[in-house]
Amino acid sequence: MSKSFEKESFESDNDFKNKIIMVTGASSGLGRAIAQQLGAKGANVIALGRDDEALGKTQSRIEEAGGRCLCIPFDLTDFDNYGKLFLALKDQVPHLDGLVHCAGSLKRCAPMQHVKPDVFKGALDIHLTAPNLLTQIMFPLLKRAKSASVIFTTCDMIDQDQPNWHAYGMAKRALGYAAAMWQAEQPSTGMRFNTINPGRMRTRSFERAFPGLSPATVPVAADIAPAFLQILSDETHDVRGQLLQASDLLEKVIH
Ligand SMILES: NC(=O)c1ccc[n+]([C@@H]2O[C@H](COP(=O)([O-])OP(=O)(O)OC[C@H]3O[C@@H](n4cnc5c(N)ncnc54)[C@H](OP(=O)(O)O)[C@@H]3O)[C@@H](O)[C@H]2O)c1
Repeated sequence: MSKSFEKESFESDNDFKNKIIMVTGASSGLGRAIAQQLGAKGANVIALGRDDEALGKTQSRIEEAGGRCLCIPFDLTDFDNYGKLFLALKDQVPHLDGLVHCAGSLKRCAPMQHVKPDVFKGALDIHLTAPNLLTQIMFPLLKRAKSASVIFTTCDMIDQDQPNWHAYGMAKRALGYAAAMWQAEQPSTGMRFNTINPGRMRTRSFERAFPGLSPATVPVAADIAPAFLQILSDETHDVRGQLLQASDLLEKVIH
């Protein structure tokens, strides 16, 4: 971790200029696109991922766009290290205005009867346990913000009964409950918790999950990221505990 974010440097009337937002999966795909667009709007981005080099690329893009970025190479399935992550951040980061859970790792689809235990557990770890435990460990920093926005990233399985997605689909469906549960447990704070389905996007995960489909048939992550920025913005402070479709959010902006 190279730079610290000091309170004094956050003074601007821009919606994101005063904000400190953590984005997981920021080394690729949707997370990188969100991190980059937040950076371009002057946010202070805390970018998490495992690949140091890829995170460095995200950081360069953010800095070229005029934003600031703190890169944290971190394996989100190392649950024993969450405490250390918090301790490393708590004195550098005054608060967290947003936490976007984008990290994901899509291996092959398979019928449940053939899924190996370690593959099943691995999918639950990164898609369900990690976003919930990271929210839990970052809670003191989220609570210090005026109205922190936490976003869980789901997928079409949130409301579609598609076969072969095993623990990935189960975890993603459970995120709708996670956001509602967190929200119900925080009825009188400014904190808000929502789930967004980005829909299919032209990313590394898409290419792995749908090797037979042409990536050109789906939007790039940069076209979907503005839906997440909307829910991070103060303008949507009354959107709480909801399950949202990126396509609906983007349609509202366009029309
Ligand atoms: N693409 C689609 O069509 C689609 C559709 C619906 C939902 N989604 C969801 O959108 C989110 C973003 O996916 P994407 O399509 O942008 O995929 P992607 O390009 O493969 O990005 C996945 C990100 O997750 C990070 N990650 C994976 N495992 C990690 C771990 N153990 N610890 C820390 N970081 C980890 C990766 O970073 P490192 O490689 O640096 O670790 C990478 O930055 C995922 O939650 C995915 O389920 C995607």
